[in-house]
Parts: sequence; C-alpha cells; structure tokens
Amino acid sequence: MSNRKLDFQNIEIALGESVRASSTQAMLVEGDSLALLRQIPGQSISLILTDPPYHSTKKQNIYGDTAFEEDKHYLEWMTQYAMEWRRVLKSNGSLFCFCASSMAARLEVIFSKDFNILSQIVWTKPNDPGFDGWKQKMKKEALRQWYPHTERIIFAEPASDGNLHRSPFGHYLKEIRIKAGMSAHELAEKTGLYGRINHGGTISNWEAGRNVPSREQYEKVCAVLLSTGKIESILPYEDAVRPFIMDSSKEFTDVWNFPSVRPYRGKHPAEKPAALLEHAVQATTYPGDIVLDCFGGSGSTAIAALKLGRRAIAIEIDPVWVSRMVARLEIGNKIEKKL
Ligand SMILES: C[S@@+](CC[C@H](N)C(=O)[O-])C[C@H]1O[C@@H](n2cnc3c(N)ncnc32)[C@H](O)[C@@H]1O
Repeated sequence: MSNRKLDFQNIEIALGESVRASSTQAMLVEGDSLALLRQIPGQSISLILTDPPYHSTKKQNIYGDTAFEEDKHYLEWMTQYAMEWRRVLKSNGSLFCFCASSMAARLEVIFSKDFNILSQIVWTKPNDPGFDGWKQKMKKEALRQWYPHTERIIFAEPASDGNLHRSPFGHYLKEIRIKAGMSAHELAEKTGLYGRINHGGTISNWEAGRNVPSREQYEKVCAVLLSTGKIESILPYEDAVRPFIMDSSKEFTDVWNFPSVRPYRGKHPAEKPAALLEHAVQATTYPGDIVLDCFGGSGSTAIAALKLGRRAIAIEIDPVWVSRMVARLEIGNKIEKKL
C-alpha cells in the first residue's frame, strides 16, 4: 500500500500557513478550497466527499450560495473543481458530490469529462413531522413543480484517458497483461480464473470495468504476471482496486434514507447526517486512506472519516465555521491546535 502517512505529511507542507489545526490523522484548513486544491500534490487523495454550496437554494447563511448570478457561472466554477479533483485523486479513488436535484444533470455532464459517473444517489429525508423543513408548512397551492424533497449525491471514479467507460483498474490490468505478453485467455488458464460462459470472461469483465477481483484473485493474477519476468512490479491491491465494500446488511441501492440533522443551537444550515457520511466513507475507502472535504462546514465529513480510522482533511472558507470545526474536532479527537 502506498504511503498514506507520507502523502498526508506532504499535503500539510503544501498547504502551509492555511492549516489551522492538525494531528497525524486530521487537518483543518482555512481558505478558498479551489486555490488550496491547486497546492495539493496530485494522486494523493483516496476519497473526495464534499458538499458545495448548491447555488439553487440561495441560502444567505451559506457562504457562496448566492455568489453566482447565473447558473453558467456556478457551473464554470464547478468545472474548475472537477479538474482539480481528478488531479488530486488517486486513480482508484472515488468522488461523492452533493447537489440539488435541479443542478445534478448539468453537473454530471461536467464531471463526465474527467470521471465515470457511477451512481446518482437520491437522498430521501424521511423526517418526522415537525422536523421537515418547509415541506409541511408551505402553501401547496403555490407550488409550480413537485416539491424537491430529495437531494442528490453524484458518485464517480476517475476516468481513464481516452475511454470514459473503462475503469482505471481495468485499464491498468490490460496494460500489465499486455506488457507481460499474455492474452486474457492465457491469463485465465494460468490463474484458473475462468469465466462461466467464455473462457477469458472473468479477466475481460475486469478489464471492461464490469466488476473487480477479490484480493485473492488479484494475488493470483499478480503471481502469474510477475512470473513472466516481463514486468518488475505490480501495484498492491489497495492502490489498484477501487474499494467498494458492500454486503446485504448495508444500504446497497442508490436510494439512501437518512433523516436530516435536527435543528440544534449552533447547527450549520447544511449539516449532513453522520450516519450518511459514515455509510459513504465505509463503503469507498480502506482504513488509513485520506478523505478530503473541500466545503467543510461543521466538520461532519472529517468526524465521520476519523471515526472509521481514515485520515481527514477539511477545507472551509468561513472563519467562523473553521473555528467551530476546530473546537468540535478537538473535543473528540484531541487535535492539537496551532493557533
Ligand atoms: C453546503 S455547506 C457544507 C456543510 C457540511 N457538509 C456539513 O455537514 O456541515 C458548504 C460550505 O462550504 C463553504 N464554502 C463555500 N465556498 C467555499 C470555498 N470557496 N472554499 C471553501 N469553503 C467554501 C461554506 O462556508 C459552507 O460552510
């Protein structure tokens, strides 16, 4: 596994004075995340889990939510983020980006230049009456469209250059198989990993990005390819295969039912539920991986990542929320304050 600890240290050096508080596991950073992202070394982040201002909601109390006069300005801004996200993500990394249903399609088009869009998750908010925002209170006769009671989360992986449908892992496997001078058929033969229908099917499915090998299967493939003597080294599993850790006990569909965070004193106006964030982090990272949130808000993503034994970086532009994030994380995680 590549050295996440070193990556984390290098990111802290690159972000310099903008780092407001840090420990070996967490980094809280103050400033404009687009400018700061440009300082982060490439291929150093395993997961971007982030919740930008929605623009469509026009909340005065969220920095940036009313900043864009026209949709196209917001989309141009997000285009720049997408390019930087692609650059800083490891090739087996993942991206979750929250958005409003009205912006999701246009954001997907933008993201699809650099990413394979894997899911558009619909977050339903099964809230109790009285904790349902405007839904109960508003005048239904005043509606001119269906009340938008869901939010969207675009889930994507970095796309391989030149082929938006092939997963980076599939691309990598094909590259090393060809370098080792083997056909998919031969590799299946030597590893005993046959497809049920056609002989090289398992290998072809992996290369086409339809599914991924287990750790044991990957080790067999590595052993066979290395034994040819034509390739010197192969990436370890954690650096090659994008984690997607799922089983039937978990929510495995793209409809996520998590109640919103109930109002409390000092709540961030857009705070996301801990259970939802933990669900996202747990499924898509290995322990020790670095999780980045470019719009840190209350620090909820960082808290979820730390709880699951991952490393966390949260960037926030609003100094009030940076201070609250520092205070909130210090309590549970003993982050050493620098200021
Ligand atoms: C939708 S909220 C995120 C809420 C967060 N997910 C939570 O659970 O608390 C967006 C946050 O991004 C911050 N923000 C807006 N523009 C930013 C920028 N350019 N760089 C960094 N943070 C920014 C806002 O101050 C706000 O706190």
